[in-house]
Amino acid sequence: MINQAIQQLRVLAEEAASAIAAAGTTAALDDVQIRYLGRKGAVAEQMKLMKGLTADERPRLGQAANETKLAIEAAIDARRTALLADEDARKLDQDRVDVTLPGRPRWLGAKHPVTQALEDITDIFRQLGFAIEEGPEIEDEWHCFDALNVPADHPARDAQDTFFISSTPDVDASNNRMILRTHTSPVQIRGMKNRTPPVRFIAPGRVYRNDKIDASHYPIFTQIEGLYVDKNVSFADLKGTLLAFARLYYGPNVNLRFRPSYFPFTEPSAEVDVSCSVCGGSGCRVCKQTGWVEVLGSGMVHPNVFRAVGYNPDEVTGFAFGMGIERIAMLKHGIDDIRLFYENDIRFLEQFA
Ligand code: PHE
Repeated sequence: MINQAIQQLRVLAEEAASAIAAAGTTAALDDVQIRYLGRKGAVAEQMKLMKGLTADERPRLGQAANETKLAIEAAIDARRTALLADEDARKLDQDRVDVTLPGRPRWLGAKHPVTQALEDITDIFRQLGFAIEEGPEIEDEWHCFDALNVPADHPARDAQDTFFISSTPDVDASNNRMILRTHTSPVQIRGMKNRTPPVRFIAPGRVYRNDKIDASHYPIFTQIEGLYVDKNVSFADLKGTLLAFARLYYGPNVNLRFRPSYFPFTEPSAEVDVSCSVCGGSGCRVCKQTGWVEVLGSGMVHPNVFRAVGYNPDEVTGFAFGMGIERIAMLKHGIDDIRLFYENDIRFLEQFA
């Protein structure tokens, strides 16, 4: 009887050993522990046989049961330690960060093509010694027209061409109404009033005209004004400055053509064409087969403009010019519709990134 019971304990120990080895998780191991070592477990079950044993036999069974218990406990502890280590390793593996993985690129955006052209052109004039001047987009008629020798009946002053600010009374004490500037030329006036000659600056900025929208007209656009006033500034200085600019911006092979024109604030005045940088002058769609594209208006500052700012036209002379940036960007990139610049269609804009 006693030998049979001890034999049974050995069998239990072996069963427990394989159950422990088969437990794949700590939870399964807990089950094994309860099954063999619990209060109603298999080992406790064997102990019930005590009752039928003699006083000599009892300690032998007790000892054997105790040893079995300790052996199973030790095996469970060892297995638990191993399982916990496995679980840790698995968790570490799942949480692993691969620091060698290349980062995901972020789309940062890019400068608008008009801004790009504006900055490129501004940089060139900075190299040529021009300062940068800014003026308000909401102007008064005096700076925009009167001081620039634009007669009172000039069509540019008509509400059809100019946006008037409606909150200002139509006629104030000085009859000087507020408008959105129609060109950057009023910055000439502000710049000259602020300093004494020599004066040399460019003035980039937005301008507004009450134009009907089409492929080449938009009520908002961008200009760069240029002004150089000093003793003995000549038309040759104007030509040399603009040619230097054109070759820095379009390339060393371009030429300029000056055509007589009229602006109230310059005399003489000239419209300036650049040889077509797309076809090199042989004629193409961009230059409408002429080999030339008009890029700016220019001339020698009119004496009345000097008088308006308190300069003496017998002492100083100067040249001025103004160019449209959208037009220049359109020529540079072969864009045929000015409206594209103001629609903010990302498919258009990202081509210039
Ligand atoms: N202000 C003129 C325009 O907008 C351009 C210009 C500027 C012409 C300076 C001559 C001198 O058309």
